[in-house]
Amino acid sequence: MTETPSQSQRKSILSQLPHPQFSAIDNPIQQSCDVIIVGVPSEGPLSATATALDQTLGGAIGGLRDQNLAPEDTNDSMLIPGPAVSNADGSGAKLVLLIGMGKNEDHTRQSAFRVASTALRELNSKERSSVIVALGEDIDAAHHDALVAGVLYAHEGQGLYRSKPTIHVPNSIAFSGIAQAAIDRGQVIGDSTNLAKRLINEPAAEIYPESFAQVTETMCSEVGLSCEVWDEERLAHENCNAILAVGAGSDRPPRLVIIRYDGGQPGEQPIALVGKGVTFDSGGLSLKPSDGMIDMKCDMGGAATVVATMHALAKLGVKKNVIGLCGLAENMVSGSSYKLGDVIKTRSGKTIEILNTDAEGRVVLADTLNVAIEHQPVKMLDLATLTGACMVALGIEVAGAMTNDQLICDEVLEAAKSEGEPLWQLPMFSLYNDKVKSKVADIKNIGEGRWGGAITAAKFLENFVGETPWVHLDIAGPAFADSPKPYRDAGGTGTMVRTLIRWIEAS
Ligand code: BES
Ligand code: MN
Ligand code: ZN
Repeated sequence: MTETPSQSQRKSILSQLPHPQFSAIDNPIQQSCDVIIVGVPSEGPLSATATALDQTLGGAIGGLRDQNLAPEDTNDSMLIPGPAVSNADGSGAKLVLLIGMGKNEDHTRQSAFRVASTALRELNSKERSSVIVALGEDIDAAHHDALVAGVLYAHEGQGLYRSKPTIHVPNSIAFSGIAQAAIDRGQVIGDSTNLAKRLINEPAAEIYPESFAQVTETMCSEVGLSCEVWDEERLAHENCNAILAVGAGSDRPPRLVIIRYDGGQPGEQPIALVGKGVTFDSGGLSLKPSDGMIDMKCDMGGAATVVATMHALAKLGVKKNVIGLCGLAENMVSGSSYKLGDVIKTRSGKTIEILNTDAEGRVVLADTLNVAIEHQPVKMLDLATLTGACMVALGIEVAGAMTNDQLICDEVLEAAKSEGEPLWQLPMFSLYNDKVKSKVADIKNIGEGRWGGAITAAKFLENFVGETPWVHLDIAGPAFADSPKPYRDAGGTGTMVRTLIRWIEAS
Protein backbone atom coordinates (compact mmCIF):
# COMPACT_ATOMS: atom_id res chain seq x y z
CA MET A 1 0.00 0.00 0.00
CA THR A 2 1.67 3.16 -1.13
CA GLU A 3 0.19 6.45 -0.06
CA THR A 4 0.39 9.57 -2.12
CA PRO A 5 3.61 11.34 -1.21
CA SER A 6 2.91 14.39 0.90
CA GLN A 7 3.37 17.86 -0.49
CA SER A 8 6.70 18.37 1.25
CA GLN A 9 8.25 15.45 -0.61
CA ARG A 10 7.19 16.69 -4.01
CA LYS A 11 8.69 20.09 -3.29
CA SER A 12 12.40 20.51 -3.69
CA ILE A 13 14.15 19.74 -0.41
CA LEU A 14 16.94 22.13 -1.41
CA SER A 15 14.55 25.05 -1.60
CA GLN A 16 13.36 24.29 1.95
CA LEU A 17 16.83 24.56 3.47
CA PRO A 18 17.86 27.83 5.12
CA HIS A 19 19.15 30.32 2.55
CA PRO A 20 20.02 33.69 4.03
CA GLN A 21 21.28 36.12 1.39
CA PHE A 22 25.10 36.06 1.58
CA SER A 23 27.32 38.94 0.45
CA ALA A 24 30.89 40.18 0.72
CA ILE A 25 31.38 43.69 2.12
CA ASP A 26 34.18 46.09 2.97
CA ASN A 27 34.09 48.59 5.83
CA PRO A 28 31.79 46.56 8.07
CA ILE A 29 31.51 49.18 10.80
CA GLN A 30 30.25 51.80 8.37
CA GLN A 31 27.18 49.66 7.56
CA SER A 32 23.89 49.54 9.40
CA CYS A 33 22.70 46.16 10.61
CA ASP A 34 20.95 44.41 13.49
CA VAL A 35 24.07 42.66 14.78
CA ILE A 36 27.74 42.72 13.92
CA ILE A 37 29.84 39.74 15.05
CA VAL A 38 33.45 40.43 16.01
CA GLY A 39 36.03 38.07 17.42
CA VAL A 40 37.91 38.47 20.71
CA PRO A 41 41.14 36.46 20.82
CA SER A 42 42.05 35.07 24.24
CA GLU A 43 45.39 36.90 23.96
CA GLY A 44 46.99 39.47 21.66
CA PRO A 45 45.49 42.44 19.82
CA LEU A 46 41.96 42.76 18.44
CA SER A 47 41.44 42.72 14.66
CA ALA A 48 41.52 46.07 12.83
CA THR A 49 37.72 45.96 12.55
CA ALA A 50 37.20 45.20 16.23
CA THR A 51 39.70 47.94 17.14
CA ALA A 52 37.84 50.50 15.01
CA LEU A 53 34.52 49.38 16.49
CA ASP A 54 35.98 49.65 19.97
CA GLN A 55 36.91 53.28 19.23
CA THR A 56 33.36 54.03 18.04
CA LEU A 57 32.09 52.52 21.28
CA GLY A 58 34.40 54.67 23.41
CA GLY A 59 36.67 51.76 24.32
CA ALA A 60 33.91 49.45 25.63
CA ILE A 61 35.43 46.27 24.17
CA GLY A 62 38.93 47.07 25.43
CA GLY A 63 37.43 47.96 28.82
CA LEU A 64 35.66 44.60 29.05
CA ARG A 65 38.90 42.84 28.15
CA ASP A 66 40.89 44.83 30.71
CA GLN A 67 38.48 43.74 33.42
CA ASN A 68 38.46 40.11 32.23
CA LEU A 69 34.79 40.39 31.37
CA ALA A 70 35.07 39.83 27.63
CA PRO A 71 34.66 36.35 26.12
CA GLU A 72 37.96 34.60 25.44
CA ASP A 73 37.39 30.93 24.80
CA THR A 74 35.45 29.57 21.84
CA ASN A 75 31.84 28.88 22.95
CA ASP A 76 31.94 32.10 25.01
CA SER A 77 30.00 35.06 23.67
CA MET A 78 28.46 38.34 24.83
CA LEU A 79 25.94 40.70 23.29
CA ILE A 80 26.56 44.42 23.90
CA PRO A 81 24.85 47.60 22.60
CA GLY A 82 26.22 48.74 19.24
CA PRO A 83 26.95 52.23 17.93
CA ALA A 84 23.44 52.62 16.45
CA VAL A 85 21.86 52.61 19.91
CA SER A 86 23.51 55.89 20.90
CA ASN A 87 24.15 57.43 17.46
CA ALA A 88 21.92 60.42 16.72
CA ASP A 89 21.32 59.17 13.16
CA GLY A 90 20.92 55.54 14.22
CA SER A 91 23.55 54.34 11.76
CA GLY A 92 25.84 51.36 12.34
CA ALA A 93 25.12 48.13 14.17
CA LYS A 94 22.39 47.96 16.81
CA LEU A 95 24.11 45.16 18.68
CA VAL A 96 27.61 43.71 18.79
CA LEU A 97 28.15 40.01 19.42
CA LEU A 98 31.59 39.45 20.88
CA ILE A 99 32.69 35.88 20.32
CA GLY A 100 35.70 34.26 21.98
CA MET A 101 38.29 33.10 19.44
CA GLY A 102 40.63 31.24 21.80
CA LYS A 103 44.33 31.22 20.99
CA ASN A 104 45.55 31.89 17.46
CA GLU A 105 47.76 28.80 17.48
CA ASP A 106 44.74 26.59 18.19
CA HIS A 107 42.87 27.73 15.07
CA THR A 108 41.86 24.96 12.64
CA ARG A 109 39.24 24.47 9.95
CA GLN A 110 37.10 22.80 12.59
CA SER A 111 37.39 25.74 15.00
CA ALA A 112 36.52 28.19 12.19
CA PHE A 113 33.41 26.13 11.41
CA ARG A 114 32.43 25.84 15.07
CA VAL A 115 33.06 29.44 16.10
CA ALA A 116 30.88 30.65 13.24
CA SER A 117 28.12 28.18 13.99
CA THR A 118 28.23 28.98 17.71
CA ALA A 119 27.98 32.72 17.04
CA LEU A 120 25.00 32.40 14.71
CA ARG A 121 23.25 29.91 17.01
CA GLU A 122 23.65 32.50 19.76
CA LEU A 123 21.73 34.97 17.58
CA ASN A 124 19.18 32.88 15.74
CA SER A 125 16.85 32.21 18.66
CA LYS A 126 15.52 35.71 17.87
CA GLU A 127 14.51 37.34 14.60
CA ARG A 128 17.34 39.35 13.06
CA SER A 129 17.04 40.84 9.64
CA SER A 130 20.65 41.70 8.88
CA VAL A 131 23.85 40.30 10.38
CA ILE A 132 27.45 41.21 9.59
CA VAL A 133 30.10 38.57 10.25
CA ALA A 134 33.37 40.45 10.76
CA LEU A 135 35.52 37.43 11.56
CA GLY A 136 37.51 37.26 8.33
CA GLU A 137 40.57 38.97 9.84
CA ASP A 138 40.62 36.65 12.85
CA ILE A 139 40.82 33.49 10.77
CA ASP A 140 43.32 32.17 8.23
CA ALA A 141 42.02 32.70 4.68
CA ALA A 142 42.47 28.96 4.04
CA HIS A 143 39.72 28.35 6.62
CA HIS A 144 37.27 30.99 5.36
CA ASP A 145 35.09 28.51 3.50
CA ALA A 146 34.73 26.46 6.71
CA LEU A 147 33.68 29.61 8.55
CA VAL A 148 30.98 30.38 5.96
CA ALA A 149 29.81 26.74 6.03
CA GLY A 150 29.50 26.99 9.83
CA VAL A 151 27.30 30.09 9.51
CA LEU A 152 24.88 28.16 7.31
CA TYR A 153 25.11 25.00 9.44
CA ALA A 154 23.85 26.96 12.47
CA HIS A 155 20.47 27.45 10.81
CA GLU A 156 19.47 23.82 10.30
CA GLY A 157 18.17 21.96 13.32
CA GLN A 158 15.78 19.31 14.53
CA GLY A 159 12.81 21.55 15.43
CA LEU A 160 11.20 21.04 12.02
CA TYR A 161 7.71 20.52 13.38
CA ARG A 162 7.54 23.19 16.09
CA SER A 163 4.50 25.45 15.56
CA LYS A 164 6.74 28.42 16.35
CA PRO A 165 10.14 28.16 14.69
CA THR A 166 13.04 27.76 17.11
CA ILE A 167 15.61 28.92 14.57
CA HIS A 168 15.20 32.29 12.84
CA VAL A 169 17.08 32.73 9.60
CA PRO A 170 18.33 36.29 8.97
CA ASN A 171 17.40 37.82 5.59
CA SER A 172 20.96 38.84 4.93
CA ILE A 173 24.36 37.87 6.25
CA ALA A 174 27.32 39.95 5.07
CA PHE A 175 30.92 38.85 5.46
CA SER A 176 33.84 41.24 5.74
CA GLY A 177 37.41 40.27 4.95
CA ILE A 178 36.27 37.13 3.10
CA ALA A 179 36.65 36.62 -0.66
CA GLN A 180 33.52 35.92 -2.71
CA ALA A 181 35.01 32.57 -3.81
CA ALA A 182 35.29 31.41 -0.18
CA ILE A 183 31.71 32.55 0.45
CA ASP A 184 30.46 30.60 -2.57
CA ARG A 185 32.37 27.47 -1.60
CA GLY A 186 31.37 27.68 2.06
CA GLN A 187 27.76 28.11 1.02
CA VAL A 188 27.83 24.86 -0.97
CA ILE A 189 29.50 22.95 1.86
CA GLY A 190 27.09 24.32 4.47
CA ASP A 191 24.09 23.67 2.24
CA SER A 192 25.17 20.08 1.54
CA THR A 193 25.74 19.36 5.22
CA ASN A 194 22.32 20.80 5.99
CA LEU A 195 20.79 18.58 3.31
CA ALA A 196 22.12 15.51 5.13
CA LYS A 197 20.81 16.85 8.45
CA ARG A 198 17.36 17.52 7.00
CA LEU A 199 17.03 14.05 5.44
CA ILE A 200 17.99 12.49 8.79
CA ASN A 201 15.76 14.72 10.92
CA GLU A 202 12.63 14.12 8.84
CA PRO A 203 10.63 11.31 10.47
CA ALA A 204 10.26 7.90 8.84
CA ALA A 205 6.64 8.75 7.95
CA GLU A 206 8.04 11.42 5.59
CA ILE A 207 11.30 9.80 4.48
CA TYR A 208 10.80 6.17 3.44
CA PRO A 209 12.54 4.39 0.56
CA GLU A 210 10.26 5.70 -2.18
CA SER A 211 10.16 9.30 -0.91
CA PHE A 212 13.92 9.31 -0.23
CA ALA A 213 14.39 8.29 -3.86
CA GLN A 214 11.95 10.97 -5.09
CA VAL A 215 13.56 13.74 -3.07
CA THR A 216 16.97 12.62 -4.35
CA GLU A 217 15.79 12.53 -7.97
CA THR A 218 14.45 16.07 -7.66
CA MET A 219 17.68 17.29 -6.07
CA CYS A 220 19.71 15.61 -8.81
CA SER A 221 17.73 17.23 -11.60
CA GLU A 222 18.17 20.62 -9.89
CA VAL A 223 21.97 20.41 -9.79
CA GLY A 224 22.60 18.44 -12.99
CA LEU A 225 23.35 14.99 -11.56
CA SER A 226 22.01 11.88 -13.25
CA CYS A 227 19.92 9.62 -11.06
CA GLU A 228 18.52 6.14 -11.57
CA VAL A 229 16.04 4.52 -9.19
CA TRP A 230 15.46 0.77 -9.04
CA ASP A 231 11.96 -0.05 -7.76
CA GLU A 232 10.99 -3.41 -6.27
CA GLU A 233 10.40 -4.98 -9.69
CA ARG A 234 13.79 -3.91 -10.95
CA LEU A 235 15.39 -5.07 -7.70
CA ALA A 236 13.83 -8.51 -8.23
CA HIS A 237 14.97 -8.56 -11.86
CA GLU A 238 18.50 -7.66 -10.68
CA ASN A 239 18.54 -10.41 -8.01
CA CYS A 240 18.86 -7.86 -5.19
CA ASN A 241 17.31 -10.42 -2.86
CA ALA A 242 19.12 -9.09 0.21
CA ILE A 243 17.65 -5.58 -0.15
CA LEU A 244 14.23 -7.12 -0.89
CA ALA A 245 14.46 -9.40 2.18
CA VAL A 246 15.11 -6.54 4.59
CA GLY A 247 12.30 -4.52 3.04
CA ALA A 248 9.84 -7.41 2.89
CA GLY A 249 8.15 -6.69 6.22
CA SER A 250 7.26 -3.12 5.33
CA ASP A 251 4.36 -1.55 3.44
CA ARG A 252 6.97 0.80 2.03
CA PRO A 253 8.86 -1.11 -0.68
CA PRO A 254 12.65 -0.85 -0.96
CA ARG A 255 14.61 1.13 -3.54
CA LEU A 256 18.14 1.42 -4.85
CA VAL A 257 19.30 4.86 -5.95
CA ILE A 258 22.29 5.29 -8.27
CA ILE A 259 23.60 8.83 -8.70
CA ARG A 260 26.27 9.68 -11.28
CA TYR A 261 28.51 12.69 -11.34
CA ASP A 262 30.79 12.95 -14.35
CA GLY A 263 33.15 15.80 -13.53
CA GLY A 264 36.30 13.91 -14.59
CA GLN A 265 37.68 12.64 -17.89
CA PRO A 266 35.27 10.59 -19.98
CA GLY A 267 35.97 6.91 -19.37
CA GLU A 268 37.94 7.58 -16.18
CA GLN A 269 36.98 4.97 -13.55
CA PRO A 270 34.76 6.47 -10.85
CA ILE A 271 35.08 6.67 -7.10
CA ALA A 272 32.10 4.89 -5.52
CA LEU A 273 30.23 6.11 -2.44
CA VAL A 274 27.76 3.67 -0.90
CA GLY A 275 25.27 4.47 1.86
CA LYS A 276 23.12 2.42 4.22
CA GLY A 277 19.60 3.76 3.80
CA VAL A 278 17.43 1.99 6.36
CA THR A 279 14.74 4.64 6.64
CA PHE A 280 13.50 3.08 9.86
CA ASP A 281 15.07 0.25 11.83
CA SER A 282 12.59 -1.40 14.18
CA GLY A 283 14.93 -4.39 14.36
CA GLY A 284 12.38 -6.52 12.48
CA LEU A 285 11.40 -9.78 14.21
CA SER A 286 14.52 -9.35 16.37
CA LEU A 287 12.58 -6.32 17.60
CA LYS A 288 14.37 -3.49 19.34
CA PRO A 289 13.08 -2.24 22.70
CA SER A 290 11.55 1.26 22.54
CA ASP A 291 14.66 2.91 23.94
CA GLY A 292 16.77 1.48 21.16
CA MET A 293 14.20 2.32 18.48
CA ILE A 294 13.50 5.95 19.35
CA ASP A 295 16.13 7.48 17.06
CA MET A 296 16.04 4.85 14.33
CA LYS A 297 14.79 7.31 11.71
CA CYS A 298 18.51 8.16 11.60
CA ASP A 299 19.41 4.77 10.16
CA MET A 300 19.53 6.20 6.63
CA GLY A 301 22.34 8.54 7.73
CA GLY A 302 24.88 6.85 5.46
CA ALA A 303 22.64 7.27 2.43
CA ALA A 304 21.93 10.90 3.38
CA THR A 305 25.68 11.55 3.54
CA VAL A 306 26.12 10.08 0.06
CA VAL A 307 23.32 12.25 -1.39
CA ALA A 308 24.69 15.37 0.33
CA THR A 309 28.23 14.72 -0.90
CA MET A 310 27.05 14.15 -4.48
CA HIS A 311 25.19 17.47 -4.25
CA ALA A 312 28.38 19.21 -3.13
CA LEU A 313 30.53 17.66 -5.88
CA ALA A 314 28.11 18.84 -8.55
CA LYS A 315 27.79 22.36 -7.13
CA LEU A 316 31.56 22.69 -6.67
CA GLY A 317 32.31 21.29 -10.14
CA VAL A 318 34.88 18.85 -8.74
CA LYS A 319 36.91 17.31 -11.59
CA LYS A 320 36.25 13.66 -10.74
CA ASN A 321 33.88 10.91 -11.78
CA VAL A 322 31.91 9.70 -8.79
CA ILE A 323 28.95 7.35 -8.37
CA GLY A 324 26.76 7.35 -5.28
CA LEU A 325 24.59 4.37 -4.36
CA CYS A 326 21.95 4.25 -1.65
CA GLY A 327 20.43 0.95 -0.55
CA LEU A 328 17.00 1.90 0.82
CA ALA A 329 14.72 -0.30 2.90
CA GLU A 330 12.48 -0.08 5.95
CA ASN A 331 13.11 -2.82 8.53
CA MET A 332 9.67 -3.65 9.93
CA VAL A 333 7.62 -6.38 11.59
CA SER A 334 4.77 -8.08 9.75
CA GLY A 335 3.63 -11.42 8.33
CA SER A 336 5.98 -10.88 5.42
CA SER A 337 9.11 -9.96 7.43
CA TYR A 338 12.30 -11.85 6.73
CA LYS A 339 12.96 -14.38 9.44
CA LEU A 340 15.69 -15.89 11.56
CA GLY A 341 17.05 -18.95 9.85
CA ASP A 342 16.22 -17.63 6.37
CA VAL A 343 18.95 -18.01 3.80
CA ILE A 344 19.18 -15.27 1.20
CA LYS A 345 20.91 -15.61 -2.13
CA THR A 346 22.45 -12.18 -2.67
CA ARG A 347 23.03 -10.50 -6.03
CA SER A 348 26.67 -11.60 -5.88
CA GLY A 349 25.60 -15.24 -5.59
CA LYS A 350 26.90 -15.56 -2.03
CA THR A 351 24.34 -16.85 0.45
CA ILE A 352 23.60 -15.24 3.83
CA GLU A 353 22.10 -17.01 6.83
CA ILE A 354 19.96 -14.58 8.84
CA LEU A 355 20.46 -15.07 12.55
CA ASN A 356 19.32 -11.63 13.68
CA THR A 357 16.98 -9.42 11.63
CA ASP A 358 18.35 -6.37 13.47
CA ALA A 359 21.71 -6.83 11.74
CA GLU A 360 19.95 -5.61 8.58
CA GLY A 361 22.29 -2.83 7.44
CA ARG A 362 25.02 -5.23 6.32
CA VAL A 363 22.39 -7.28 4.46
CA VAL A 364 21.18 -4.22 2.52
CA LEU A 365 24.79 -3.22 1.85
CA ALA A 366 25.67 -6.70 0.52
CA ASP A 367 23.63 -6.06 -2.64
CA THR A 368 24.37 -2.33 -2.78
CA LEU A 369 28.14 -2.92 -2.71
CA ASN A 370 27.73 -5.59 -5.38
CA VAL A 371 25.99 -3.13 -7.73
CA ALA A 372 28.69 -0.56 -6.92
CA ILE A 373 31.63 -2.79 -7.87
CA GLU A 374 29.99 -3.53 -11.23
CA HIS A 375 30.83 0.09 -12.10
CA GLN A 376 34.51 -0.85 -11.63
CA PRO A 377 35.35 1.90 -9.17
CA VAL A 378 39.02 2.78 -8.56
CA LYS A 379 38.12 2.97 -4.92
CA MET A 380 35.00 2.66 -2.85
CA LEU A 381 33.81 4.02 0.48
CA ASP A 382 30.66 3.05 2.33
CA LEU A 383 28.99 4.86 5.22
CA ALA A 384 26.57 3.20 7.59
CA THR A 385 24.98 3.68 10.98
CA LEU A 386 25.92 0.04 11.29
CA THR A 387 26.61 -1.06 14.86
CA GLY A 388 26.01 -0.09 18.46
CA ALA A 389 29.30 -1.93 19.06
CA CYS A 390 31.18 0.85 17.27
CA MET A 391 29.73 3.30 19.80
CA VAL A 392 30.85 1.01 22.62
CA ALA A 393 34.35 0.92 21.13
CA LEU A 394 34.81 4.60 20.25
CA GLY A 395 32.12 6.62 22.00
CA ILE A 396 29.32 8.57 20.36
CA GLU A 397 31.37 11.31 18.74
CA VAL A 398 33.91 9.20 16.87
CA ALA A 399 33.31 7.30 13.64
CA GLY A 400 35.07 3.99 12.99
CA ALA A 401 37.08 3.27 9.83
CA MET A 402 37.76 -0.26 8.56
CA THR A 403 39.51 -1.14 5.33
CA ASN A 404 41.06 -3.71 3.02
CA ASP A 405 43.56 -1.14 1.69
CA GLN A 406 45.66 0.94 4.08
CA LEU A 407 46.63 3.51 1.45
CA ILE A 408 43.10 4.72 0.78
CA CYS A 409 42.21 4.44 4.46
CA ASP A 410 45.10 6.80 5.20
CA GLU A 411 43.71 9.25 2.62
CA VAL A 412 40.32 9.24 4.35
CA LEU A 413 41.84 9.53 7.84
CA GLU A 414 43.92 12.48 6.62
CA ALA A 415 40.87 14.22 5.12
CA ALA A 416 38.93 13.72 8.35
CA LYS A 417 41.82 15.11 10.37
CA SER A 418 42.03 18.22 8.18
CA GLU A 419 38.31 18.85 8.62
CA GLY A 420 38.45 18.03 12.32
CA GLU A 421 35.88 15.22 12.12
CA PRO A 422 36.90 12.52 14.61
CA LEU A 423 37.58 9.20 12.87
CA TRP A 424 39.54 6.23 14.20
CA GLN A 425 40.63 3.06 12.49
CA LEU A 426 39.75 -0.40 13.83
CA PRO A 427 41.75 -3.48 12.77
CA MET A 428 40.61 -5.98 10.16
CA PHE A 429 42.87 -8.88 11.16
CA SER A 430 42.09 -12.11 9.29
CA LEU A 431 41.56 -13.79 12.65
CA TYR A 432 38.09 -12.23 12.57
CA ASN A 433 37.22 -13.89 9.22
CA ASP A 434 35.88 -17.08 10.82
CA LYS A 435 33.45 -15.17 13.02
CA VAL A 436 30.99 -14.66 10.16
CA LYS A 437 31.20 -18.18 8.69
CA SER A 438 27.86 -20.00 8.64
CA LYS A 439 27.12 -23.69 9.03
CA VAL A 440 24.35 -23.62 6.44
CA ALA A 441 25.28 -20.79 4.09
CA ASP A 442 28.40 -18.93 2.90
CA ILE A 443 28.17 -16.32 5.64
CA LYS A 444 25.96 -15.38 8.58
CA ASN A 445 24.76 -11.88 9.43
CA ILE A 446 26.07 -11.70 13.01
CA GLY A 447 29.41 -12.46 14.63
CA GLU A 448 29.98 -14.84 17.52
CA GLY A 449 28.72 -13.11 20.65
CA ARG A 450 28.89 -9.37 20.99
CA TRP A 451 32.65 -8.87 21.12
CA GLY A 452 34.21 -6.90 18.29
CA GLY A 453 30.79 -6.27 16.74
CA ALA A 454 31.90 -3.28 14.66
CA ILE A 455 34.68 -5.35 13.11
CA THR A 456 32.66 -8.50 12.47
CA ALA A 457 30.11 -6.31 10.66
CA ALA A 458 32.93 -4.91 8.49
CA LYS A 459 34.24 -8.45 7.91
CA PHE A 460 30.79 -9.37 6.62
CA LEU A 461 30.87 -6.40 4.21
CA GLU A 462 34.37 -7.32 3.02
CA ASN A 463 32.82 -10.41 1.41
CA PHE A 464 30.98 -8.16 -1.06
CA VAL A 465 33.67 -5.70 -2.20
CA GLY A 466 35.80 -8.07 -4.31
CA GLU A 467 39.29 -6.68 -4.98
CA THR A 468 38.16 -3.05 -4.87
CA PRO A 469 40.19 -0.85 -2.49
CA TRP A 470 37.54 -0.07 0.09
CA VAL A 471 36.96 1.87 3.31
CA HIS A 472 33.96 1.35 5.55
CA LEU A 473 32.90 4.14 7.91
CA ASP A 474 30.66 3.15 10.81
CA ILE A 475 28.91 6.42 11.72
CA ALA A 476 26.40 4.97 14.22
CA GLY A 477 27.76 7.28 16.93
CA PRO A 478 28.29 10.70 15.33
CA ALA A 479 25.44 10.67 12.73
CA PHE A 480 22.77 11.57 15.26
CA ALA A 481 23.19 13.52 18.50
CA ASP A 482 21.04 13.13 21.62
CA SER A 483 21.84 16.54 23.02
CA PRO A 484 22.85 19.92 21.59
CA LYS A 485 26.27 21.58 21.74
CA PRO A 486 27.01 25.29 21.40
CA TYR A 487 27.88 24.79 17.71
CA ARG A 488 25.05 22.45 16.76
CA ASP A 489 21.55 21.34 17.54
CA ALA A 490 20.76 17.78 18.60
CA GLY A 491 19.54 15.40 15.87
CA GLY A 492 21.20 14.76 12.52
CA THR A 493 24.72 16.18 12.40
CA GLY A 494 25.80 15.84 8.76
CA THR A 495 28.97 14.11 9.89
CA MET A 496 31.55 13.17 7.21
CA VAL A 497 30.11 15.32 4.40
CA ARG A 498 33.03 17.75 4.73
CA THR A 499 35.53 14.91 5.02
CA LEU A 500 34.22 13.20 1.87
CA ILE A 501 34.32 16.41 -0.16
CA ARG A 502 37.94 16.94 0.87
CA TRP A 503 38.90 13.30 0.24
CA ILE A 504 37.42 13.27 -3.26
CA GLU A 505 38.92 16.66 -4.16
CA ALA A 506 42.34 15.41 -3.01
CA SER A 507 41.99 12.05 -4.82
N1 BES B 1 21.04 0.62 13.08
C1 BES B 1 21.59 -0.24 14.05
C2 BES B 1 22.87 0.30 14.69
C3 BES B 1 22.75 1.59 15.46
C4 BES B 1 22.59 1.56 16.83
C5 BES B 1 22.83 2.82 14.82
C6 BES B 1 22.48 2.74 17.54
C7 BES B 1 22.73 3.99 15.54
C8 BES B 1 22.57 3.96 16.90
C9 BES B 1 21.90 -1.60 13.43
O1 BES B 1 21.07 -2.00 12.40
C10 BES B 1 21.77 -2.62 14.51
O2 BES B 1 20.69 -2.80 14.98
N2 BES B 1 22.87 -3.27 14.85
C11 BES B 1 22.87 -4.28 15.84
C12 BES B 1 23.70 -5.44 15.32
C13 BES B 1 23.58 -6.69 16.15
C14 BES B 1 22.18 -7.26 16.07
C15 BES B 1 24.59 -7.70 15.63
C16 BES B 1 23.48 -3.70 17.11
O3 BES B 1 24.39 -2.88 17.01
O4 BES B 1 23.01 -4.04 18.18
MN1 MN C 1 19.32 -2.98 13.10
ZN1 ZN D 1 20.15 -0.51 11.35
